[in-house]
Amino acid sequence: MAKINLETTNKLRRLLSSWAVFYQKAHTFHWDVTGENFLGFHKYLKQMYEESVEHCDEIAERLRQIGERTELTLNGASSDSVVQDDNSLSTVNKISQDLITAIAQLTSLQTEIYNEADEQRDYVTANLMTQLSKWCEFNSWFLASVAGEENETNM
Ligand SMILES: [Fe+2]
Repeated sequence: MAKINLETTNKLRRLLSSWAVFYQKAHTFHWDVTGENFLGFHKYLKQMYEESVEHCDEIAERLRQIGERTELTLNGASSDSVVQDDNSLSTVNKISQDLITAIAQLTSLQTEIYNEADEQRDYVTANLMTQLSKWCEFNSWFLASVAGEENETNM
C-alpha cells in the first residue's frame, strides 16, 4: 500500500472538501442561472456537477486505499475547502468567472499534492492529480470562452 505523510494526506482530505463545495456550487448555479444562454449553460452545469461527484468519489476512494477515512461532513467541507462556499450569483458571465476562480484554486492544491505525492513515490495519487487538473484546464478554457462570447455580445 502506498504511504504518504500526514501533511499530504490532510491536503488530500482538503481537496475532497473543496470538490464537495465545488460540486454544490455547480449544482446551485445549475438551478439559479438565468439569461439568454440559459438552456445551454443549464445543461453544461449539470454535466459539471455530475463529473464533480465522480471526482469526489475518486478522491475519497483514494483516501481509503491509502488507509484513511474520509469522515466528510457538509460543515467540515465548507470550513476546510479552498473553494468559497458562496453561490449567490445568477448571470452566465458572473457564474463563469466564479467557476474559473474556483477551478484555479482546485488546480493550485492539486499541483501541491502532485509534487508531494511524486516526491514520496505515490504515483497513483500523483496520477489522480494529473487527471483532475486535466479536467480543470479543459473546463477553465470552456468557461473563459463562454464569458468572452458574452462580453462580445454585450459590447
Ligand atoms: Fe436539473
